[in-house]
Amino acid sequence: RPNRSSTMDQPVVPHVVFLPFPAQGHVKPMLMLAELLSQAGFEATFINSNHIQHRLEHSINIATMYRRFPKFQFRSVTDGLPSDHPRSSSSIVQLLISARDETRTEFRNLLVNLGQKNGRWEPPTCIIADGIMSFAIDIAEELTIPVITFRTFSACCTWTYFHLTKLIEQGEVPFQGDVDMDKTITCIPGLEGTLRCRDLPGICRLKEANDPLLQFFIKETAAMPRAYGVILNTFDGLEASMVSKLGSFFSKIYTLGPLQGLFDTFAKSPSARTSFNGLLWKEDRGCISWLDFHPSRSVIYVSFGSLVCLVRDQLLEFWHGLVNSGKPFLWVLRSDSILGEDGVSEVPLELKAATEERGCIVDWAPQEEVLAHPAIGGFLTHSGWNSTLESIFAGVPMICWPMFADQQVNSRCVSELWKIGFDMKDKCERAVIEKLVRDLMESDEIVKSTDEFARMARDSVKEGGSSYSNLQKLIEDIKSISL
Ligand code: UDX
Repeated sequence: RPNRSSTMDQPVVPHVVFLPFPAQGHVKPMLMLAELLSQAGFEATFINSNHIQHRLEHSINIATMYRRFPKFQFRSVTDGLPSDHPRSSSSIVQLLISARDETRTEFRNLLVNLGQKNGRWEPPTCIIADGIMSFAIDIAEELTIPVITFRTFSACCTWTYFHLTKLIEQGEVPFQGDVDMDKTITCIPGLEGTLRCRDLPGICRLKEANDPLLQFFIKETAAMPRAYGVILNTFDGLEASMVSKLGSFFSKIYTLGPLQGLFDTFAKSPSARTSFNGLLWKEDRGCISWLDFHPSRSVIYVSFGSLVCLVRDQLLEFWHGLVNSGKPFLWVLRSDSILGEDGVSEVPLELKAATEERGCIVDWAPQEEVLAHPAIGGFLTHSGWNSTLESIFAGVPMICWPMFADQQVNSRCVSELWKIGFDMKDKCERAVIEKLVRDLMESDEIVKSTDEFARMARDSVKEGGSSYSNLQKLIEDIKSISL
């Protein structure tokens, strides 16, 4: 280990390098964590892909960030894809593989450069790397820099990923042609009776056990316990039993969720918080004034995150279902989210008219602010983990329509474990949507349990709460590494 001893008048400032996977759902929580550690006085180097960095420079005010945190710097490396590549959900596999294979060398070179100071080797104190970028663990081990892994999934889903090999060995995965998707999965301790085949992570639907994507996640998950510890954006009140199970893989687990809640506590005044809304898309703030005109808990918010795309038939089923529910709706329809040529063109006139009357469609919304708005009474979501946690924090019940990755597991937890919403996975029918929207907005029982989880989320980020204490523990542990 290099000598980083401090002197009386020059204490060592820990230097943390952050490496998120280059997608909105990963960059945002990592950036929030980096800002929290900067507030604790740490030096921070945030490494984006060139593509993400380019987009960030046009959205968040990086100059303000530098002014507020003089020890904060951005650096960027290749993700291996050409600059004009769409990097959409249909090509996410390419991005996963190319980031794994191509980012490694530039990341290593960057670390070596960062560590060379005045002819001496003074490497960063530690690296916090995304849980699906295990090459960072290889390089950290080679350069003897401590590394902490940040898995952006829930504890429940992370635990499920640790059982992928067992699921394959037991013949549960991949699903065979005539498999009963409602069959209960019994080989994941703690989740027996909760998960059915259809609730397993999206990659379990692949046809071959040796599919490169399935093998990619098995390998990435197996590598995580080599790290010094794991950070999860969840809170103990929500997932204590799963977090304790993960203790069999990690000696240090820092549950820091909801990260946005920790800001409200640590930043003291909201103006001291960097806005992460509109991180990679330009947000349409007009929807907030539209919400202002609606009564309490009357509007259903609809958004499928940054990657999910719809085909025209699905678009129309959702549209009819929302209109037929009779409830006002705020819908995020990203310009890149409709597949197929005729996308939103030639939408039936009656839908257009009803939308003008009680709908609002935007390209990208300030989601956290929308969910916190009193007019919102429900969230029709794809069950990405950030959206799920943001909804829990805001006390908004959900209708879940998961598509891939962790989303199938999250939606099951929402409906079965926490009872804060409905799961309509694998169905996209207007009658179902209409009924669930009405049921959700009119169910007192769901609102009660949603309020209870929102209270627990707030308690966890208050001084003395579990996530608050874990952040302090993380800060102290990083300081002790740097001594
Ligand atoms: C991806 C995966 O799909 C998800 O399952 C995984 O847990 C994280 O990575 P994504 O699909 O984008 O992320 O979903 P999600 O995790 O919900 O993140 C979306 C983020 O975009 C949220 O933080 C949300 O606040 C933000 N958002 C979304 C906006 O700010 N405005 C919008 O209009 C829509």
